[in-house]
Amino acid sequence: MAEKNFKRYTVTAALPYANGPLHIGHLAGVYVPSDIYVRYLRAVGKDVAFIGGSDEHGVAITLKARKEGKTPQQIIDHYHEMIKNSFESFGISFDIYSRTSSPQHHQTAADYFKKLYEKGAFEAHVSEQFYDNKEHQFLADRYIKGTCPTCSFDGAYGDQCENCGSTLSPTELINPKSMLSGEVPIMKETKHWYFPLDRYEDFLKQYILEDHKEWKTNVSGQCKSWIDGGLKPRPMTRDLDWGIKVPVKGAEGKVLYVWFDAPIGYISATQEWAQATGKNWEDYWKKEDTKLVHFIGKDNIVFHCIIFPSILKAEGSYILPDNVPANEFLNLEGNKISTSRNWAVWLHEYLIEFPEQQDVLRYVLTANAPETKDNDFTWKDFQIRNNSELVAIYGNFINRAVVLTHKFFGGKVPDITSYEQVDLDALANLEIFPQRIAHSLDQFKFREALGYLMDLARLGNKYLAETEPWKLIKTTPERVGTIMNVSLQIAASLGVLSRPFLPFTYEKLNQMINMDHLNWTDAGKPSNLQGGTSIGEGRLLFEKVEDDVIEKQIQKLMNTKKDNSIEEQLIAPSKPMISYEDFSKMDLRVGQVLTAEPVLKSNKLLKFTVDTGIDKRTIVSGIAKHFTPEEMIGKKVMVLVNLAPRMIMGIESQGMLLFAENKEGSLKAVVPDAAASNGAGIS
Ligand code: MF3
Ligand code: ZN
Repeated sequence: MAEKNFKRYTVTAALPYANGPLHIGHLAGVYVPSDIYVRYLRAVGKDVAFIGGSDEHGVAITLKARKEGKTPQQIIDHYHEMIKNSFESFGISFDIYSRTSSPQHHQTAADYFKKLYEKGAFEAHVSEQFYDNKEHQFLADRYIKGTCPTCSFDGAYGDQCENCGSTLSPTELINPKSMLSGEVPIMKETKHWYFPLDRYEDFLKQYILEDHKEWKTNVSGQCKSWIDGGLKPRPMTRDLDWGIKVPVKGAEGKVLYVWFDAPIGYISATQEWAQATGKNWEDYWKKEDTKLVHFIGKDNIVFHCIIFPSILKAEGSYILPDNVPANEFLNLEGNKISTSRNWAVWLHEYLIEFPEQQDVLRYVLTANAPETKDNDFTWKDFQIRNNSELVAIYGNFINRAVVLTHKFFGGKVPDITSYEQVDLDALANLEIFPQRIAHSLDQFKFREALGYLMDLARLGNKYLAETEPWKLIKTTPERVGTIMNVSLQIAASLGVLSRPFLPFTYEKLNQMINMDHLNWTDAGKPSNLQGGTSIGEGRLLFEKVEDDVIEKQIQKLMNTKKDNSIEEQLIAPSKPMISYEDFSKMDLRVGQVLTAEPVLKSNKLLKFTVDTGIDKRTIVSGIAKHFTPEEMIGKKVMVLVNLAPRMIMGIESQGMLLFAENKEGSLKAVVPDAAASNGAGIS
């Protein structure tokens, strides 16, 4: 059973960034385990607040908006709705699903910051940061691109090179450029408020390494290496125009660091929930008999185990997280799940392709959860677990218990005549399960708990195989009454104990053998279903997944892989180094298209007259698939004017227009600022 000394539970699930849809990695890492946990707590009668919401600040959101030509608000509105729907569809039973753009949250986070500020919990520092002098903005690390000092890849970000994976700081980039204007950023002084984590070292050592030795080893291991590596002050403010305004004089134009405000989102969402339901939010955050548990993925460990607890401690009136059962990562068919590479199983697509089969995914993701190490999701494994576990074991047992009761007893629970040893053994076995599963769940061992649940279904099958009621019906029908009664008791217990894991199956099963009135501790008892009560018609709980369905999914991923590798090939390969002399041989100039027309008998070529500033000349270019003649007329272009003339389809082409080729193969004209005049040399 859950520990008795806690009166209340505040359970949070990491707030997903509202900048993309959810995939199976999210479910497996955070949302299915947290949902199992709270459903279990509710089933044992605990007072629980299950808190969720969207994380709607930070650079990730602004970058996405920029990329799509939308405002951050449009992005978060879109994905918040989408994410919320996916959670609902998968039965993630939040008591509230809020968002960090809510007014309540802005107020709560700003007040929290202000309180710490007034207590002197921050240190202000002035330092030099990259600044875009054209856009008049400081640049987040992600907004700076340049050449990687390690692998020379020229699209590395200020915080990371995606080509070789090395972690960078923007000052290490060769030729750093602002992604806003393309200009070389300058260094400029700016003031920020730092949270001095170094001052919390003793507190953290005691809190994590002494007081919470029960934390999962993957979690405490990461914490220990952070602490051993030396904790440093961390800036809690940013120069950005999207986020919560820093409520302090002299901080105009600055916002709170997203990792400062987001975890406070758990608190503001609790406040909203409490207001709506007549509870007192402080009971859930400030009382020692409340157990606070954060479900997260491993990339969030430092924020939830080190930074957030220190921030709670600094405020002084809050309880600390009692446990942070972080999971490792789920891979997909051997590769890291990646949103940008579309390497994922998206929840909104699964819901369409596998309608009414949410529990199958919940089951597979729990059976194969990355609890102690990274794990791999494969469609083959999905099929096997569905067909040979859910269908062949669970579904088969329930189906036989229900169908045989209808066949032999007109759909009424038969009475017990007398127990034989085989019945008593089965019932004695059954009795252990609620405790056993609860014990695993209390320790956040969800795979193990689910394994026990399936053992219970196996127990049912074994019992039917040993007693063979279908044979006895002809010779000793009264004996069959007892057997079906015992079978139905097992089925009812299986149903009750399935509820946290397979909530949709629970509902279906409940329509067959009414067990709604039973709670967790009733499960395991020998007489939950009264003799004489009617049971409903049998319904198929799980259906076989056929090979072609799985092959289709695998094919879909193969296509993604192919698209990705084509895309990679299209990134123009680097060319060998050249000297300045080589470069200076090229006479590059700004030109302007005067006329443009298709070349007869060619669907690729356009013929232009270009004003190069020196002369007006004819240039033929193979871009007809990308541009119409009309849209080229008047355009400023870059021209290589000293390219030796060539005959193309009977026309002499006297130079070359420059285009940039995108990854997908589309062309963009390389154009100067409008101010550049025709004939201007490029050097
Ligand atoms: N948005 C973060 C992520 O996806 C998680 C935020 S959890 C919270 O990694 F604590 F900050 F809310
Ligand atoms: Zn690199």
